[in-house]
Amino acid sequence: MLRVAIVGCGGIGNTHARQYVSNPAAKLVAVCDILHDRADATAARFATRAYHDVAEMLAAEEIDAVSVCTSGVENGGDHYLPARQCLEASKHVLVEKPLSNDLERAKELVALARDRGLLLGVDLNHRFVPQAERAREWIREGRLGEPMLCNMELWINNPNESSPWYHLRALHSHSVDVMRFFCGDVRSVHAFLGHSSKRTIWSNCVINLEFENGCLGALFGSYEAAPRHGIERLELLGSAGRLVLDNVFERLELYPHNSDEILSYRWSMMNGGPHSFEQTFRNRLARWVAEVSAGGPVSGSGEEGLRALAVVEAAIRSFQERRVVEMAELLP
Ligand SMILES: NC(=O)c1ccc[n+]([C@@H]2O[C@H](COP(=O)([O-])OP(=O)(O)OC[C@H]3O[C@@H](n4cnc5c(N)ncnc54)[C@H](O)[C@@H]3O)[C@@H](O)[C@H]2O)c1
Repeated sequence: MLRVAIVGCGGIGNTHARQYVSNPAAKLVAVCDILHDRADATAARFATRAYHDVAEMLAAEEIDAVSVCTSGVENGGDHYLPARQCLEASKHVLVEKPLSNDLERAKELVALARDRGLLLGVDLNHRFVPQAERAREWIREGRLGEPMLCNMELWINNPNESSPWYHLRALHSHSVDVMRFFCGDVRSVHAFLGHSSKRTIWSNCVINLEFENGCLGALFGSYEAAPRHGIERLELLGSAGRLVLDNVFERLELYPHNSDEILSYRWSMMNGGPHSFEQTFRNRLARWVAEVSAGGPVSGSGEEGLRALAVVEAAIRSFQERRVVEMAELLP
């Protein structure tokens, strides 16, 4: 039984708690928030102990792994301190995305976990669906052929105007991670950013990617769209077919170039499939618990979260300097 704790008892900390208490392989031993009301309410809701200071919790409880569900500037500014405290106390750590809003701090966390032989994961939950695994199987079986083009779209409505880079840093670890999941490491990046007349931050983006395997990618992102009809769409064009993964898990289809028959995969509600987006958290956290319990390695690792973040930083640099940025400049 993996003994887990949660730091940060906002909406997402409570989502992690719901998943841990319903997982027979995990025991939620404590939750912590500097806002006393939040920690106390979450502890009461999930019948566990509340702390208001991370160091106190780490000293008092026997814990194997911690979910860091803080937020902060660009939704990642507060992760570093508690994540570092937990790693220094020899706990495995799962950090909410983005791993950090600061690339150097993200690098520090990855290095700290590696040096101490600890497991570090990031909640890149969008790829933790059976459709993504099945799509990769189809690709391994040669049904797509040689991957050539990758088109990714991720859009929601987020009116927050807190930082010029908020949309990129808070959201696009997800989309870049899904693209990397299928196409591998990125070699170079070029970005244009924009916004409507109603906004001031860079709430729209088009980011072009050249992958190490020669595949070309385009990422359309927005914080100005309604999620009513979905939030995400991935399209991969290969030499043997075209694959579409629509809205994270709603539709997976492969259109072979040489046949009229379409390959389709459905994750039915009747077979434990999704009732809501919460299912992506259920899958991701179940995998984290299983992989940490087995001693690792972990999927959606700190290293992968760092690589996704570095692509986002390369896009920001590309826009600022109006040039193509090589990934080797950020991750030598
Ligand atoms: N994976 C996903 O699909 C997904 C979706 C939405 C949000 N998120 C991420 O989840 C994270 C949390 O989001 P939220 O909306 O719950 O945030 P939130 O701001 O509502 O909650 C964060 C909590 O952390 C607490 N906190 C901050 N520093 C602390 C510290 N050092 N010790 C103890 N508590 C501390 C705050 O007091 C706050 O209550 C963000 O990083 C966000 O990007 C992920």
